[in-house]
Amino acid sequence: MRPRGASRSLSDVTTRKIIIDTDPGQDDAIAILLALASPELEVLGITCVAGNVPLPLTTRNALLLCELADRGDVPVFAGCARPMIRPLVTAEEVHGKTGLDGPEWDEPRLALQQAHAVDWMIDTLLGASDGEVTICPIGPLTNVALALVREPRIVPKIAQIVTMGGGYFVGGNVTPAAEFNVYVDPHAADIVYRSGVPIVTMPLDVTHRALMSHEWITQLAAIGTEVGRKAAQMLAFYERFDMERYGSKGGPVHDPATIAFLLEPGLYGGKDVHVAVETASPLTMGMTVVDYWGRGGEDPNCRWMTEVDADGFFDLMLERLALL
Ligand code: RIB
Ligand code: CA
Repeated sequence: MRPRGASRSLSDVTTRKIIIDTDPGQDDAIAILLALASPELEVLGITCVAGNVPLPLTTRNALLLCELADRGDVPVFAGCARPMIRPLVTAEEVHGKTGLDGPEWDEPRLALQQAHAVDWMIDTLLGASDGEVTICPIGPLTNVALALVREPRIVPKIAQIVTMGGGYFVGGNVTPAAEFNVYVDPHAADIVYRSGVPIVTMPLDVTHRALMSHEWITQLAAIGTEVGRKAAQMLAFYERFDMERYGSKGGPVHDPATIAFLLEPGLYGGKDVHVAVETASPLTMGMTVVDYWGRGGEDPNCRWMTEVDADGFFDLMLERLALL
């Protein structure tokens, strides 16, 4: 367990404005619920992108999650329905045909916002002060890249991009070389890593070092709330794929690492490195090429996380999801 003193009293924190860009996805769901449960974070909006499942489902799923958290105040936007250049690749084999398989869901009562996610993201950032907004992309980077290309004036407005994606020491999870979010839209990832915005990356190198246990999933269900029950059902469905693939006792839960970092950065350790994205080779398309030992002479463009206090990560999620 984390030392109890490690969790600040929730009443005396300053809030951090964030935009979550997402392709829910059960692990996205836990990231979204964790953010909505945490008063340190002001979720300005949720922008959806095609990824784990097509856009009509990622938007439906984001609305369902806002309803589950009783946060109808958080606007949800539809973004890009396909990557910038490559055809869309989805992951129903992992997330199920709806993207949120596991629990029974009704159709959402909440409605999407009319504005396109990229337009809203640009307008919101242009209306912010410099360094006021953090963007948390936890799916393919298509929306974020298009916003950067369409309106470069947003760059100084972004405090950090804290993204789940990529892999280096552990390789890929879609091909031997590439992780899913970057593989689906490598051209978008290339634009983001070249943008000059301060980036913190939660790659497979760190997410694979915090594997769920059945005990922890049981503790989620034992919270006794609808959020706890549905979170446990989603993760029990979701972890089976990785357990079979890796032969491990539990699966990684990738996307909440971005939100946990915002809440308790001390849970993570990493290194400032230069990352380049492969956008041409059929063999290594979408590979995040990490210059970990500074051999390439390029300035670092991101903090690449490789260390995590796994117990602290799971304790934080359990503690916060119980607040919803
Ligand atoms: O590779 C893991 C990432 O791909 C996660 O964001 C998961 O939701 C999928 O989008
Ligand atoms: Ca995701």
